[in-house]
Amino acid sequence: MSSRNGHDSKKRRPPALQPHVLFMPPIGDDFDGSDEDAATVERETLEYNVFGTKPVEEERLFWYRWIAGHQISFLLWRAMHDVVRHHADEDADRPGERELDLLSACIDGYSTTLLYSSTVPRELYHADIRARMALQHPAFSGTWAPDYRGVRRLFRSNLPWQEDGSCAALDEAVARNEVTHSHIADHLVPDGHSLLQKSVGAPGVSISREKEDLYDNFFLTVRRPVSHAEFVAQLDARIADLAADLKHNGLYPNVDGQHYPVVTQQSDEVMRPLVSDILQVLDRAARLVSDMRLEEARR
Ligand code: HEM
Repeated sequence: MSSRNGHDSKKRRPPALQPHVLFMPPIGDDFDGSDEDAATVERETLEYNVFGTKPVEEERLFWYRWIAGHQISFLLWRAMHDVVRHHADEDADRPGERELDLLSACIDGYSTTLLYSSTVPRELYHADIRARMALQHPAFSGTWAPDYRGVRRLFRSNLPWQEDGSCAALDEAVARNEVTHSHIADHLVPDGHSLLQKSVGAPGVSISREKEDLYDNFFLTVRRPVSHAEFVAQLDARIADLAADLKHNGLYPNVDGQHYPVVTQQSDEVMRPLVSDILQVLDRAARLVSDMRLEEARR
């Protein structure tokens, strides 16, 4: 059987680990009007080993994980924004059950990509990834992520309906995400200072269009009209590539005979289930994102 990325799945050739350009709609734009259906593909298996055995080319692998993990997060944020924007006003209805499911699934999906991207050994993160971000801009920061803007209130539990009892699962997903982000930040940068915090007082710490563009450029993201079918296909392709990577290299790859676990026995219990469930969580999120559009089209 030949998979979409051209790998023969039976022979299991090593995955290409090649980041791709991500096309995203300009911020504030709807999807390009096209009614094509965008169904997600069936995945062969959602199993992988936590600890990898095959030696890896570390710079290539972790660079790829950093870019691909972020791109999947951008796609999930955008999918969440499509729900949130209909329920953002003071007097807006709260989201329905399916919409709440989608929000929780996408937030958990984002938590898994935080974990996936941060499997890089700390030393390599500082020498390579963080150094490249600092060269892009000395105050490079997640706060510049253009697609996050539309969901920031959701992550801060600031939407009027979030206190409702029907949002318990969503609250848990938000809390899990907060724990995950702060855990991986402490894990990779134990001194606790982000590039943004380090450069406080330096010129240009506010967010501008230019910084959003720098952020997009760094993560190989190009803004142009995108149909929902193309959006779903890009999400799907990235999850397929991530699955191929996990199956070949494990979540914690073998780097010169060593493993660098992010979540340990001592880590917060909240995060531990994410370790073995990355593919289930992402697969579910992708299905809900794809189905939601089909349901909207049928209304
Ligand atoms: C693994 C990928 C990561 C993603 C996708 C990510 C994403 C984000 C996002 C979207 C924000 C903005 C939150 C808001 O505006 O409310 C943010 C802020 C922040 N992130 Fe991350 N983050 C990641 C890794 C890290 C790491 C490794 C650190 C370690 C220092 C870190 C530290 C921070 C801090 C301190 C903030 C607050 C604002 C700032 O000082 O930059 N993050 N992050």
